[in-house]
Amino acid sequence: MKIKHYLQFSDLDAQEYAYLFARAALIKKKFRAYEKHHVLADRTMAMIFEKASTRTRVSFEAGMYQLGGSVVHLTTGDSQLGRAEPIEDSAKVISRMVDLVMIRTYEQTKIERFAEHSRVPVINGLTNEFHPCQILADIFTYLEHRGTNSQGMPDPSFLTGKTVAWVGDGNNMANTWLQASEILGFKVHLSTPSGYEVDQSIAGIRSSDSYAVFKDPMQACAGADLVTTDVWTSMGYEAENDARKKAFADWCVDADMMAAAKPDALFMHCLPAHRGEEVAADVIDGRQSVVWDEAENRMHAQKALMEYLLLGRVA
Ligand code: CP
Repeated sequence: MKIKHYLQFSDLDAQEYAYLFARAALIKKKFRAYEKHHVLADRTMAMIFEKASTRTRVSFEAGMYQLGGSVVHLTTGDSQLGRAEPIEDSAKVISRMVDLVMIRTYEQTKIERFAEHSRVPVINGLTNEFHPCQILADIFTYLEHRGTNSQGMPDPSFLTGKTVAWVGDGNNMANTWLQASEILGFKVHLSTPSGYEVDQSIAGIRSSDSYAVFKDPMQACAGADLVTTDVWTSMGYEAENDARKKAFADWCVDADMMAAAKPDALFMHCLPAHRGEEVAADVIDGRQSVVWDEAENRMHAQKALMEYLLLGRVA
C-alpha cells in the first residue's frame, strides 16, 4: 500500500479535508467528555525538532498519548542528525522502529528527502515553505465558529466565497493559506511589504485565481471574513530582524484593519505573537480573536490527521 505523507496542504483533497474536519470535531467532543479514543494503542511516533516549538510539540505529544500511543522526541542537538548523518539514512533507521514521524525543519526539500526514504507516514510540523498542520487547525477553528451545519458539525461548504486577509510576511503560513484556498474554494487577500511577497511557484499553486494582492493592508482587510497574520521575523530569519522591523511597520493588524473587515470577522494568529508588532494588543486580546481556540485545535485536528494517516477512514 502506498504510504500517505502530509508534507504540504495539497497532499490531501477537499473530500479528505471534509472527513478530517468532521473527525476532529468528534475527537474533540470525546476529549472534552473524558471518553477514551485509543485507536493508536501500541503505535509510536518520532518527533524531530530542528527548530524551537511550544504548540507543535505539546499538541502532537499530548495528542499521540491521548490516542493510546507514545512518542520519541529528537532534536538536532541530542541525536546524530546534528552530526551530519545523511537524512536518507536517518529516515531508513527511524522509520523501521516507529509508525509515524513528525518533523519540524528548515528547507522543504529535507522533509521530502526524509519521506522518500521512510517506511511510515511523515508529517510536516513546519518548514521554511509550509505549515500545513497549522492551517488545518485554523480552518477547523473557522468552521467551528462560522461554518457548522444543523447537527453542529463543521461544513466546509461554508468556506465558499469567503475571504481570508493575510497581513504581513509572505512566509510558510501565507504559502499554505494559498494552497488551502485552491483546494477549499475561498479567496485570500495578500498584503505584504515590498520585498516580502509570496512567490506563487514556492507556494506551489497552479493559478492566481484564488488570491489577490494589495499594497495597502487596509484594502486587503476590507470585507474580509477572517484577518490573520504572523510574526514579522520567522524562525531562521533572525539576522534580518532589524530590517524587517522597519519594512513591516505598517503591517500591524490593528482595530482600524479589523473595522475594515466584516463586522463578524474573526482574527487568527498561529502564535507565538508579538503584541505591538504584527498585531495590536486590543486585537489579539479582543472579542474577534479566536487564537486560544486555534491553538487548542492544533491537537484535535492533528489527532484526526494521525488517525487518518495510519488507519485511513474509520467512519
Ligand atoms: N504555531 C506554532 O507552530 O507554534 P510553535 O512554534 O510553538 O510550535
